[in-house]
Amino acid sequence: MSNLAAHGGTKTLDIPRPHYRWPDVDTSLEQAIIMQAHRSLSDRDASGIIGEYEAAFAAFAGAEHVVSFASGTAAIHAMARIAGLKPGDAIIAPAYTFLATASPFAFDGIEVIFADADEYGNVTADSIEAAMAPNVRAVIVTHMWGNPCNMTDIAATCRNHGLLLFEDCSHAHFASWNGQRVGTFGDMAAFSTNQKAITTGEGGILTTRLSAHRDLAILYAHYNKRAQTEIPRDSPIYPFAFTGMGLKHRITTLGAAIGVHQLQHAAGIEKRRRANLATFVDGLGGNPVLTPVVVPAQQGTHGLYVIGLRYHPQAATVTRDQFIDLVVAEGATEIDAPGSTRNLAHEPLFQRHDPYEPWTPRPAIHAPDLPGVKAFEDTFLKIPIWGYSADTDLVDGYLAALLKVTEAVAR
Ligand SMILES: Cc1ncc(COP(=O)(O)O)c(C=O)c1O
Repeated sequence: MSNLAAHGGTKTLDIPRPHYRWPDVDTSLEQAIIMQAHRSLSDRDASGIIGEYEAAFAAFAGAEHVVSFASGTAAIHAMARIAGLKPGDAIIAPAYTFLATASPFAFDGIEVIFADADEYGNVTADSIEAAMAPNVRAVIVTHMWGNPCNMTDIAATCRNHGLLLFEDCSHAHFASWNGQRVGTFGDMAAFSTNQKAITTGEGGILTTRLSAHRDLAILYAHYNKRAQTEIPRDSPIYPFAFTGMGLKHRITTLGAAIGVHQLQHAAGIEKRRRANLATFVDGLGGNPVLTPVVVPAQQGTHGLYVIGLRYHPQAATVTRDQFIDLVVAEGATEIDAPGSTRNLAHEPLFQRHDPYEPWTPRPAIHAPDLPGVKAFEDTFLKIPIWGYSADTDLVDGYLAALLKVTEAVAR
């Protein structure tokens, strides 16, 4: 191990931080933001940039109807309300996901039953079956870190049980399963556009096939002008158009302008990110210590959020966390084991019986044994996928750092 930077050797890369910025703020993005600032900083309807952004996102995602939100969290909460889920109902959600896949349901007092993960960190038809209970009305899946879930089997399971199916596509903007874009398999899908492959800074998208869902989404995100303009007058929910349902969750115009710019460049973003992913997949081919976590190409296409790697501790002389420290010492500081995306099953938010009594944790309702989640969490690590013009040195440098450390620690 003597040539490792941690042991006094030369660092593999010495590039000033930050190593990951997103989006790439070039002059064309600056122009788009400035032009929107002059055009309008607040739109009450979708006749301007918000409508343009939603149309562009619908084309990008292959979605029939798109409603934008202030966050992915708000879009997921709207899915719960549109579906009419209420206290007493349950939803099956991944135990391993970012908290906001499940927390909006808990906010409404809906019981969340957690399902186990496979080797990609994803729920499966089997793990959903194992979580089934009589009061389950819906399932939400997350395509973790960019890898699509097996939507063929999961959709069949939901059909068999008569359950609604929601997709959280926040990590999977560019993913497909079996040739079909994720977000089009279920009843509704949500996309966070926070620091994701397509970003609006902060923001979220809800997609659906049904115009009735779309109208309800408008009621939950917007009120007054937009709702009165777009909800048909003969709709049974039109009487709510003036007030909405009590909250406002609309995206900012500057966020929408960033989104339009991103979507205009989506092909280039995809090309660059896919090339970077391929560099790591090829470069780590046959590596005994690390395997890229990427679904086989004949099953699905990666969504290009981050590059996930599986660590094989039995093939190395150091633990996963020691390995990360060694790679960081090489100057590849953006490698990590995710902290805020983790097993949610024991969080007190999900143990409450009463959404109006939020400060009293109760004993666990569901404390399931989730060996798949544990195995995934214990061995997973990630690096950025980059995707901007000046990323070549970082991509090459990180790969070189991973190869140098794996060579040093391989048994
Ligand atoms: C899987 C997943 N779902 C939902 C969210 C919530 O999105 P937002 O931060 O836009 O509210 C995130 C955010 O990181 C996420 O990663």
